[in-house]
Amino acid sequence: MGYNVGMITGTETQTVWRRARREDLDVLLDIERRSFDVPWTWGEMEEEFQLDYSRPWVAEQDGRVVAFGIHWLIAGESQLADIAVHPDFQRRGLGRRMMDVLLDDARALGMKKMTLEVRAENAAAIDLYLNLGFVETSRRPRYYEDRHDAVLMEISFEK
Ligand SMILES: CC(C)(COP(=O)(O)OP(=O)(O)OC[C@H]1O[C@@H](n2cnc3c(N)ncnc32)[C@H](O)[C@@H]1OP(=O)(O)O)[C@@H](O)C(=O)NCCC(=O)NCCS
Repeated sequence: MGYNVGMITGTETQTVWRRARREDLDVLLDIERRSFDVPWTWGEMEEEFQLDYSRPWVAEQDGRVVAFGIHWLIAGESQLADIAVHPDFQRRGLGRRMMDVLLDDARALGMKKMTLEVRAENAAAIDLYLNLGFVETSRRPRYYEDRHDAVLMEISFEK
């Protein structure tokens, strides 16, 4: 993998990858609201810090949280719950590295696979997941409130 959890020194910016803390809640919500038309509510995001199956992570640059990713550990499988990179910090590799952190976390915890669900029109996210080796397993037509399709994808950790 091209990163280490903890402090890494890149060519220009240092990025710290760490588990999210409840004190990060406001900044997570800020990034969430900038990223989605129907963002999670304060209550939904706050709950992530109480659920024992939820593993929220953040990326921090110069003391500022610039991205987050959350996966859930359910029945031996990891499920990607949410991921977003602050719009000012996109296209710099943070989304891919956050996914690597979550995938490594899931593998280290003995999960069999990671599954996710993404809006069919979210080309950026789908491209990212395909590049990481996820495969499409099915589609749910008109799944979302605005009747857009959901694409279900997964990556297996088993050989
Ligand atoms: C999806 C998201 C997390 C990607 O984060 P990012 O830091 O910008 O992505 P990276 O710089 O790590 O790019 C990794 C890969 O993602 C894909 N990608 C990212 N942005 C893209 C875009 N605007 N168009 C097409 N592909 C894109 C590419 O495959 C890219 O690889 P490449 O740079 O070699 O082409 C980010 O766009 C985001 O936060 N979007 C809003 C929230 C969201 O949609 N989350 C996913 C919900 S399922």
